This record gives sequence, structure tokens and C-alpha cells, in this order.
Amino acid sequence: MTTQNHGTLTNLTLEIWRQTGPDDPGRFVTYEIPEISDGASFLEMLDILNERLIEAGEEAVVFDHDCREGICGTCSLMIDGRAHGPQRGTATCQLHMRTFSSGDTIVIEPFRASSFPVIKDLMVDRAAFDRIVEVGGFISAATGGAPDGNLIPIPKPVADAAMDAAACIGCGACVAACPNGAASLFTGAKLAHLNLLPQGQAERFKRTEAMVETMEEHFGSCTNHGECEAACPKSISIDVIAVMNADYRKAKFKNRKSLSRV
Ligand code: FES
Repeated sequence: MTTQNHGTLTNLTLEIWRQTGPDDPGRFVTYEIPEISDGASFLEMLDILNERLIEAGEEAVVFDHDCREGICGTCSLMIDGRAHGPQRGTATCQLHMRTFSSGDTIVIEPFRASSFPVIKDLMVDRAAFDRIVEVGGFISAATGGAPDGNLIPIPKPVADAAMDAAACIGCGACVAACPNGAASLFTGAKLAHLNLLPQGQAERFKRTEAMVETMEEHFGSCTNHGECEAACPKSISIDVIAVMNADYRKAKFKNRKSLSRV
């Protein structure tokens, strides 16, 4: 249970996963943080820890980060057993220390999924996501000059649904939270933001078949636990999985029909 504080947090204990490389079995190491501002972000707290470690001649904790604004999807930590920590709809970089209380012990691990092998400490390899996007997460269209936006009318609910799906930052929290290590929320979101729009129609079923089957090669299967939606820092709805499954069924029929005409 977490409470709101104002000021400085004292006597925080961090249980951090340290692993020197993919072949190291890894272990938890305990660090004491005597004082930290509750206005610090979670990643700033790790920065401060690392400065102290380096000053003491120890090796800094390796963790992923880039934008620190909830945009890039690079940050990826299991905090107290939850992907991105206790606050819903929040990426690790947006989580603030005021979410915790003085005296708390915080357990910090890398995202746990066989598809995301640990590179070092808290950093994992999420290249399996790239394999899915490579096979269809794009539109093959000559761009030419920019057309007037109103030339392609799109109903507002459709545009909203596509934009909601496009909010996926590809962090991998959905995979880490899923008991099956499934990537259905990620793949569903990447498909929905293209398949719902007029520009995505030409390659809709080719894209869907390729991305779903690549997903199945690398990740587990969805059995509707819904943990992915709860962990998603962008609160993407599992509705995108239903749309993906419906499109995949259609794709298996349509792609076979189009092949028989060749
Ligand atoms: S560091 Fe970019 S989303 Fe967290």
C-alpha cells in the first residue's frame, strides 16, 4: 500500500536485480538510500543511486531510458512485481517517488519474459518486437506532395480509435505482465492504428497475417487474462486484440482467395 508524502523520503531500501550478462544467473542486491526527494522521478532516484555507486568505486546499475517523458517506450522495470510500478497508465520514467513512503522496500527487476532476454542488470533485449513491426508495421505508399487532409474523410470515432492504438510506445509492459508472455496487445495496437485508417486498407490483410504469424513465432498465446491492459502505460484497450483476431480470420480467407486468382 502506498501513500502520498511531501518532502524527503528517508531510509528507502532497494532490492535491485544485478546480472552481469545473459549467461549470469543473476541475484538481488540490497542498497540503502538514506534520503531522496519525493519530487524525484523513479529514474532520477536510480541516477542518484548510480552516482553514489560510482563515487564508491562500484559498478552502476544498468537500466534502459531515453526520452523520460513517457514517449519512447525505452524504460522498462518491474517495480514491486508490476510492470512500470504501482501507478496505472504511467511509464517508469513518469513515476515519482512521492508514490512511495519513507521506510519502504522497493523491489526492482527487469521485465520478465523469455522473449526479452536480459542483457545486463535491468536492461532487456526487446528486438522480438522489431521482428513483428518489420513484417508489416508500415504503409507502402509513394508519399508525393502532402494532400489536403479533407480529401480523405475519416469518421471521428474511427480516427479516435486509430489514434488510441497509435499511442502504443512499444515498451513491452504487456508482455512482461502477461502470464503467457503474449504480445497480443502490442501487435493488436500496431495493426489497429494502420488497419482502421483508409491509407492502411491496401495491405490490411497481408499485414495482419504476417504480423500475427511473426508474433506467434516469438511470443506466447493470449488467453484473455487482461493483465496487459492493466499494465499498459498508455491504457490501450484489449479491444485491439479482438479486432486483430477478427482481421486475422478474414486474412486467412482473403489472402488464400487472392492467391488463387494469380
Ligand atoms: S524513457 Fe521514454 S517512455 Fe520512459
